[in-house]
Amino acid sequence: MSTIMNTAIDTAMNADARRDGVRIAPSLLSADFGKLAEDLAMLEAGGAEWLHVDVMDGVFVPNLTFGAKVIETCRKLTKLPLDVHLMVVEPEKYFDSFVGAGASVLTIHVEATPHLHRQVMRIKELGAMAGATMNPSTSIETVREVAHDLDLLLIMSVNPGFGGQKFIPGSVSKIARARALLDESRSSALLQVDGGISRQTVAQCWRAGADTFVAGNAIFSAKDPRAEIAALRALCTEQA
Ligand code: DX5
Ligand code: ZN
Repeated sequence: MSTIMNTAIDTAMNADARRDGVRIAPSLLSADFGKLAEDLAMLEAGGAEWLHVDVMDGVFVPNLTFGAKVIETCRKLTKLPLDVHLMVVEPEKYFDSFVGAGASVLTIHVEATPHLHRQVMRIKELGAMAGATMNPSTSIETVREVAHDLDLLLIMSVNPGFGGQKFIPGSVSKIARARALLDESRSSALLQVDGGISRQTVAQCWRAGADTFVAGNAIFSAKDPRAEIAALRALCTEQA
């Protein structure tokens, strides 16, 4: 394993160890790009562990967002691990440039690749953490055969494509089933949830077994985003 590989993974994992096993990953999708540097400094000071970066290609999902250039800009502006969620077809086209731009985690959709195992291994070879996810209508069984190799399993609790959507209630039992699948596979993957996470939904996801929480609208529309990060975390740890 190269030094670069060790550094990317260590940075992401050290941040994990900081607080009680709860990771809060604010989503860049809801940030104000007019004051990006200020917002990223605020999130870091506010105790966020990761920064979630939603990459959309207008094909896999009906929306277009960021490419390598924005990842590179974020890499310069913050020390937070960059958790890149690829909502794109042919995700493998972007692995090299995104890891080169500073991505710490690359998460791909099972619907976007017929060769999940190959792509997971390729991400790890490049030195990033490898994540897999699926749309709400797709079964978690689609990741069973690679579960042991994953660094992260993401349960989508909205249909991907947009921030600010309503949490799909059935996601809670899906998280619990994902937790069981990871345990059965003796996988040490983190279990992340993304979409509609707020003070109303975070604790039930934590109780079901999630440890990493993406939140866009809840954090960025709050009067005090730093207090919101702390509140989301406290709603989990208070019940630990
Ligand atoms: C949706 C994205 C999410 C989104 C979450 O496609 O994957 O990361 O930014 O936003 P909220 O927390 O507003 O639902
Ligand atoms: Zn996302």
